Amino acid sequence: MRILLTGGAGYIGTHIAVSLSLNGHEPIIVDDLSNSCKSAVSRVEEILGKPVSFHELDIRDSTGLNAIFETEKPQAVIHLAGLKAVGESVAQPLRYYDTNINSTISLVKVMSDHGVRRLIFSSSATVYGDPEYLPLTEEACVGLGISNPYGWTKFMIEQILRDLAAAEDGWQISLLRYFNPVGAHESGLIGEDPNGIPNNLMPFVAQVAAGRRECIRVFGQDYDTVDGTGVRDYIHVMDLAEGHVSALNHLVPGVATYNLGTGTGSSVLEIIEAFGQACGRTLPYEIVDRRPGDLASTYCSPEKAAQELQWKASRTIEDACRDSWLWQSTNPDGYL
Ligand code: NAD
Ligand code: UFG
Repeated sequence: MRILLTGGAGYIGTHIAVSLSLNGHEPIIVDDLSNSCKSAVSRVEEILGKPVSFHELDIRDSTGLNAIFETEKPQAVIHLAGLKAVGESVAQPLRYYDTNINSTISLVKVMSDHGVRRLIFSSSATVYGDPEYLPLTEEACVGLGISNPYGWTKFMIEQILRDLAAAEDGWQISLLRYFNPVGAHESGLIGEDPNGIPNNLMPFVAQVAAGRRECIRVFGQDYDTVDGTGVRDYIHVMDLAEGHVSALNHLVPGVATYNLGTGTGSSVLEIIEAFGQACGRTLPYEIVDRRPGDLASTYCSPEKAAQELQWKASRTIEDACRDSWLWQSTNPDGYL
């Protein structure tokens, strides 16, 4: 199938483009490059050994998007475009609501006009807020304790898409709730390239390993977890990418929701230790105060995705650290 990838030049989108192509699909990337660059697409082409269709566009521009649908004739869409920095969303709520919500509305209107009603949406574990229980299943309560506008945009978009599918026949929508994507393609040619100081643990650890930053700050060691540090379900980005290919192959009428994670939690100290093994030295860290809004522990039950999508994460934390280190050490300044 011809698959339009909104936000396809970003961290997760580039890896999905590779997986799609390797599984016989044709990715068409649409991205405004607000948090990515054209050379990421060139790297995807280098991995695949062939050109990939790319359009620079803010997808809130529905006229421009309509023109792309007319020429490219996609048969399904994977919608990744959006802003994703939790702290920034607290400081700039309107920018987040405008970008994330309005880009989705613009997209689904254009899709509907063209009779394209197969959609996969990048949602997030953040919709579960303060987890009711662990491991999280898709039936767990959502929306309680969401602590930032970014999380609310994911919650609201899920609802908008459910309302749309209820109102209009023919939609096949998969809401994928990602846990913590980490790692890079095994070639080291594509990976995560955050702007400024990384908010997330793995890219920060990678930059300390590369000597770009001095010391990892561990946000709290007094949680009720195995070693007192926060526990998360880290999923290799190539497993996540393959989850999208499976979701595409198993779309059903209406809306279905899936957790994409491993089902296993790792602590901050376990990640620092694993990355140290990958890069061959002990990484310096200091314990600092808890980060406001952080949860002690979150990990998913991946059972529904295993049964209905026939997909399971197969890569380990060690694989993720190795691939992340290859990307970081061979591209110390990211994409140039
Ligand atoms: P990313 O920032 O690397 O990729 C998002 C891409 O969207 C960027 O290339 C950016 O330029 C583009 N974009 C933003 N607004 C746009 C617009 N209006 N029109 C066109 N392009 C636009 O982020 P990512 O980590 O690859 O995340 C992809 C998706 O997955 C996002 O929706 C994010 O919220 C979601 N997600 C990410 C994580 C994570 O930890 N990385 C976790 C859960 C969910
Ligand atoms: N952490 C540190 N030091 C750092 C960064 C993080 O100790 O420099 C800790 C955090 O306290 C947490 C763990 O590492 O315990 C993971 O933190 P991340 O920021 O990497 O990830 P989060 O689970 O906080 O959030 C991420 C994304 C959200 C998304 C969520 C679930 O940032 O957008 O995963 O998918 F919603």
